[in-house]
Amino acid sequence: MALDLTSLPDVSGLTVGILGGTGDQGRGLAYRLARGGQRVLVGSRSAERAVAAAAEIGPSVAGAANEEVAAASDIVIVAVPWEGHGTLLASLRDQLRGKIVVDCVNPLGFDKQGPYALPVEEGSAAQQAAAVLPESRVCAAFHHVSAALLADPAVDRIDLDVLVLGEDREAVEAVQALAGRIDGMRGVYAGRLRNAHQIEAFTANLIAMNKRYKAHAGIRITDV
Ligand SMILES: NC(=O)c1ccc[n+]([C@@H]2O[C@H](COP(=O)([O-])OP(=O)(O)OC[C@H]3O[C@@H](n4cnc5c(N)ncnc54)[C@H](OP(=O)(O)O)[C@@H]3O)[C@@H](O)[C@H]2O)c1
Repeated sequence: MALDLTSLPDVSGLTVGILGGTGDQGRGLAYRLARGGQRVLVGSRSAERAVAAAAEIGPSVAGAANEEVAAASDIVIVAVPWEGHGTLLASLRDQLRGKIVVDCVNPLGFDKQGPYALPVEEGSAAQQAAAVLPESRVCAAFHHVSAALLADPAVDRIDLDVLVLGEDREAVEAVQALAGRIDGMRGVYAGRLRNAHQIEAFTANLIAMNKRYKAHAGIRITDV
């Protein structure tokens, strides 16, 4: 079957929460989704930091503690460093029950030779999220989207494909639709969570390209 973006669900009325929304990636996604008309809540371990970040991002964005954001959102994006990932999600199991959780975390290390993929016991950050949140609808997406491009108001379109992985077809389609709310982006189904490792790890290759070519590289899937 061909990719039919017109058949994706309407997610325009859903509230999107971002855990770690005070960081580069969270701020960038919040700005870009709000610019596309989405209602966005940014979360933080500190409600004060979240409120301050939301005020900086834009008038249609609100901020609150991660727990409140998780409870008040329909779709929750996880944008915290790998180091805090498992602990934070375990603490939000109740608030995230039944919700679509979108993991964009890339477990990477950095040394003199540059970025490299870290081994993850569960296979990937997304699989760790699914293990910690058995009653949530965990998907993986937005790993390859540059925070700098997302946050730059002078950038009108970001031409790339967002690879969306997951076990729950309806949840995957909602995340594909969410990606499509950002001008230039398509959400493309890219397999089940057991294949998330290489998607997360591929970010190390993109960072290497960005360093060499002074770029914000993204990917486009051909013939889809
Ligand atoms: N930056 C990018 O271009 C990019 C692109 C694609 C994917 N990603 C992924 O997105 C995630 C966030 O990246 P980032 O660059 O935005 O990171 P970041 O700025 O270092 O962290 C994001 C936010 O996470 C919170 N945080 C930090 N340590 C935490 C911990 N131990 N437990 C819970 N929360 C913690 C902080 O918010 P509070 O202190 O306010 O709680 C921080 O502002 C990473 O996993 C990264 O792999 C990043």
